[in-house]
Amino acid sequence: MGKLIDGKMVAAKVKKEAAADVEALKRQGIQTTLAVILVGDDPASQVYVRNKRKDCEEIGIKSLEYRLSEQTTQEELLKLVRELNERPDVNGILCQLPLPKHLNEAEVINAISPLKDVDAFHPANVGKIMIGAYDFLPCTPAGVMELLRQYGVSAEGKRCVVIGRSNIVGKPMAMLLLHDNGTVTICHSRTKELAEICRQADILVAAVGKAKFVTADMVKEDAVVIDVGMNRNEAGKLCGDVDFEAVEPKASLITPVPGGVGPMTRAVLMKNTVKAAKIQNVAK
Ligand code: GUN
Repeated sequence: MGKLIDGKMVAAKVKKEAAADVEALKRQGIQTTLAVILVGDDPASQVYVRNKRKDCEEIGIKSLEYRLSEQTTQEELLKLVRELNERPDVNGILCQLPLPKHLNEAEVINAISPLKDVDAFHPANVGKIMIGAYDFLPCTPAGVMELLRQYGVSAEGKRCVVIGRSNIVGKPMAMLLLHDNGTVTICHSRTKELAEICRQADILVAAVGKAKFVTADMVKEDAVVIDVGMNRNEAGKLCGDVDFEAVEPKASLITPVPGGVGPMTRAVLMKNTVKAAKIQNVAK
């Protein structure tokens, strides 16, 4: 086996399982449905939303898209979320982030029913993750854990370093590595001796949002390197947070960008949507 972690291959497996579950639900008369809300015209968000629709089509999930104008008010957005919460035919609700600056993201996340919160961003779901008793896991960190599992990498007893402390990736990522018995350090923009700490990592996860942030001197020989970055370079090409050419020779396993973590994030979203449909239809 090479050292490249094939996210597309693992994502295909996860989606295949989700598709079988969607089919089984259909036989019970349940059409799994995901509602996706996009406010404004951020180009990156448009691409993400389009890809989510493609994934839904591929595995038999019905997708409802709500494209709202940049001028949408907080009240209008909350009204839509509440309507979707009430609809029994909608299993999952995802509001694409970031929202335009005039909108209150936290309030929107809070308004989504925790039972339909397929991103696992609602405080109730975040709390459940903290204590290890969750229904949904956030898509990117869960995708990373699945990649590690499929490549036979356990965090148990290992030094794990996560660079980045966002609510979407860094914090939950650290928690999942901890649940897998890793010894976890979270680094961020105020961290001193960042390179030295990263060099101790057996598993290094970069979720910074800066191209080529992780250089070869920050990586231990034979480390497993996971790149969550989705940056565009000067030429508009998609690239990660890791200086891939320089780091790859030192790593025992490494995710490419694209084709590493990205496809996994999307696959876990499909899995979460199916799980939501199952939870909402128990004993029906
Ligand atoms: N923006 C960037 N990543 C995500 C994600 O995983 N979910 C949502 N809703 N918005 C995002």
